[in-house]
Amino acid sequence: MASSTTLCPFLSIFAFALLATAYAIGFSVELIHHDHPRSPSYNPTLSPSDRIQAEIQRSNARAALLRTYFSHFHNGTSTTKYPYPSTYSLPYGTITANAENNYFMSIRLGTPIKEIITVADTGSDLIWVGCEPLFVGFPGVAFGCTHNTNGTSERMTAGIVGLGGGPLSLVSQLGSSIGHRFSYCLVPITLTKVMTSRLSFGSDAIISGGDVQTTNMVDNARPNLYLVTLHGITVGKNNSLGPIKSSDMLVESGSTLISLPSTILESLVEVLKQSISLPQVEDNEFPLCFNESARSDFVYPDITLQLGTATVTLKPYNTFLMKNNHVRCLAMKPSIFVPILGNIAQQNFHVGFDLASWKISFAAADCTKY
Ligand SMILES: *[C@@H]1O[C@H](CO)[C@@H](O)[C@H](O)[C@H]1NC(C)=O
Ligand SMILES: *[C@@H]1O[C@H](CO)[C@@H](O)[C@H](O)[C@H]1NC(C)=O
Ligand SMILES: *[C@@H]1O[C@H](CO)[C@@H](O)[C@H](O)[C@H]1NC(C)=O
Ligand SMILES: *[C@@H]1O[C@H](CO)[C@@H](O)[C@H](O)[C@H]1NC(C)=O
Repeated sequence: MASSTTLCPFLSIFAFALLATAYAIGFSVELIHHDHPRSPSYNPTLSPSDRIQAEIQRSNARAALLRTYFSHFHNGTSTTKYPYPSTYSLPYGTITANAENNYFMSIRLGTPIKEIITVADTGSDLIWVGCEPLFVGFPGVAFGCTHNTNGTSERMTAGIVGLGGGPLSLVSQLGSSIGHRFSYCLVPITLTKVMTSRLSFGSDAIISGGDVQTTNMVDNARPNLYLVTLHGITVGKNNSLGPIKSSDMLVESGSTLISLPSTILESLVEVLKQSISLPQVEDNEFPLCFNESARSDFVYPDITLQLGTATVTLKPYNTFLMKNNHVRCLAMKPSIFVPILGNIAQQNFHVGFDLASWKISFAAADCTKY
């Protein structure tokens, strides 16, 4: 990321949004998927299977970057809880700055109204924007400001908005004015080309009604990341994998696939093989694929994750991807450092983050109507 960076406070669009809604602090913005025509990374020439391929590559690249970030902590090379200044800004900034991220945030500002597109990243605390386009000279939220936006998607976006839990992130800086809350609802991947998703703050982010599953997030030395504890997996109604070694799992909208510790993934694949009576297809990317050409109406089983005290039932569209005609694959891979609950698994869930009580909620929802 940028080498010439300064922290410069100025009125953010968010301060603007807050002024506009001084008595009812809640607002929402659009989340634009990487493959939506309004995304700076949109490529109209990609076929559906090219898109899946590109998604996998982004997910792999992002996993590798997250591993770098995590291993810094593991190796004890960080003496500070918040690794952003100096040595860390580079590797971590790179994570958020490039096109591996899957969602952009649309903000409208100014007269005449101008649309500003930023990368939205729940894995990051940084708020980076180009100094020129957004510099309006008011005090407000502190942003990192860079003149050197030479990153992949940065070139076309106004910057990055970190939605992590650390002190520099947007949600932390808005703090009590938004009740320390935000949420999102991601439309299914089959619709990301034609619809946008929603990211909400404050009173707009409260999840109510239906079956809301809430759990504490892991209280750790990485408060900028949203981690839960995975300690059980069930296929269908009652086909449990049995006791699994519990592990932290990162809830991450910037990653695409689910990643699981390889031993857990292997057991899950075995259970799925037993419960899915379709011919298997060998694949060098996914751990399990089926040929459904003879039975396109086949109903795949739900997969339920026990995440802390939250029971999260993933529908087949949360766990299987159509790779190409008639071949559907388990949208998972072995984790290379930390297991990840990526954005396919989060589609059609209203996912809420409460940073004050450090809790996360999941409620099944139709995100196209939200
Ligand atoms: C952390 O340590 C491992 C093993 O010693 C090493 O391979 C890795 O490169 C280190 N990571 C960083 C970011 O220093
Ligand atoms: C920006 O990227 C181009 C190539 O992508 C490179 O040639 C150039 O040196 C970079 N500029 C800076 C300031 O990093
Ligand atoms: C669990 O599944 C088996 C078949 O695999 C079935 O016979 C049994 O009734 C199920 N139990 C419950 C509690 O649903
Ligand atoms: C899927 O099965 C059909 C037969 O039902 C076969 O013709 C086709 O080649 C298979 N596709 C793959 C990718 O294995």
